[in-house]
Amino acid sequence: MTSLQLHAPLDMHLHVREGDMLQTVTPLSAQAFAGAVIMPNLVPPVTSRDRLESYRAAIHAASQGQAFTPYMTLFFQSYDAATLSDLRPDIIGIKLYPAGVTTNSETGVRAIADAAPTLAIMQDLGIPLLVHGETHGFVLDREREFLPIYDQLATRFPRLTIVMEHITTREAVAFLDRYPNVYATVTLQHLLYTLDDLAGALLQPHLFCKPLVKRPEDRETLLAAALSAHPKLMFGSDSAPHPQSAKECSGCAAGVFSAPIALPRLVELFEQHQALDKLQAFVSENAQRIYRIQPPARVVTLSKIPWVVPERYGTVVPMQAGETLAWQVVA
Ligand code: NCD
Ligand code: ZN
Repeated sequence: MTSLQLHAPLDMHLHVREGDMLQTVTPLSAQAFAGAVIMPNLVPPVTSRDRLESYRAAIHAASQGQAFTPYMTLFFQSYDAATLSDLRPDIIGIKLYPAGVTTNSETGVRAIADAAPTLAIMQDLGIPLLVHGETHGFVLDREREFLPIYDQLATRFPRLTIVMEHITTREAVAFLDRYPNVYATVTLQHLLYTLDDLAGALLQPHLFCKPLVKRPEDRETLLAAALSAHPKLMFGSDSAPHPQSAKECSGCAAGVFSAPIALPRLVELFEQHQALDKLQAFVSENAQRIYRIQPPARVVTLSKIPWVVPERYGTVVPMQAGETLAWQVVA
């Protein structure tokens, strides 16, 4: 039987929600990954030590004894230096959402200029900035239109580590080479799909997320960057569970639930392209170097045993539900 070992695979962009949803989805990530960057867009968002600590404890409790580190983030708002230096040891970064661009971002930033004082403090304290980089323009152009804002941020704060979250365009891949302090995450769905898969035939709500999947040439460029383990690119699933009732309805929520398939499907993808030797860097080493983190020394083994992705986990439909995957994580 063919098997493969990965050292401390990491998911550098993950939503686990709260309550019953957290209980359902957290074990699925903890089983496959040694750690994950936990997004703060709860209702209300994670903006205080109390909320941060109780959220971390809930994730820890739901991890079922796995060596799984939740790397916590704060939701960007104006913070003073005292608050951030106190929280510095307990967070991996602060996530900035322009107001209203995605799920639970209503209290995000309205004018990027207002963010400058907090960004200056983050730069001084060495706190990375994670960004949902979309404008309010035409939906397919939002990421590209945001690139000038990354230009301004990278120039004005040259010592601030800036992570472009879930990039989806070839322009964003090219942008990585422009500034030494700019990095990115990319999801599984943006490596696999284009807008045709989402809306070219019958609408596929379980592939609907922000930013949208894009053009074939965008996907090809992202895939080439991932398969070569571009040193500034990290895997971040952006697994974002919503109940089936919120996805299969009029007014479908944005978010693709990929946690249960993310790692096996990545292995399959890298194997198909004869790039398995690059997977370790893409799914862990790059992130360790960029964020200067040392995840639990955990080895995750995958075996080449086909399995059918369940139709549902709790109330959530996963990406590729009902399809057969070639690899699985073994306990
Ligand atoms: C995410 C969510 O549901 O929280 N949705 C999504 O479409 N990606 C938020 C986000 O990361 O944009
Ligand atoms: Zn996200």
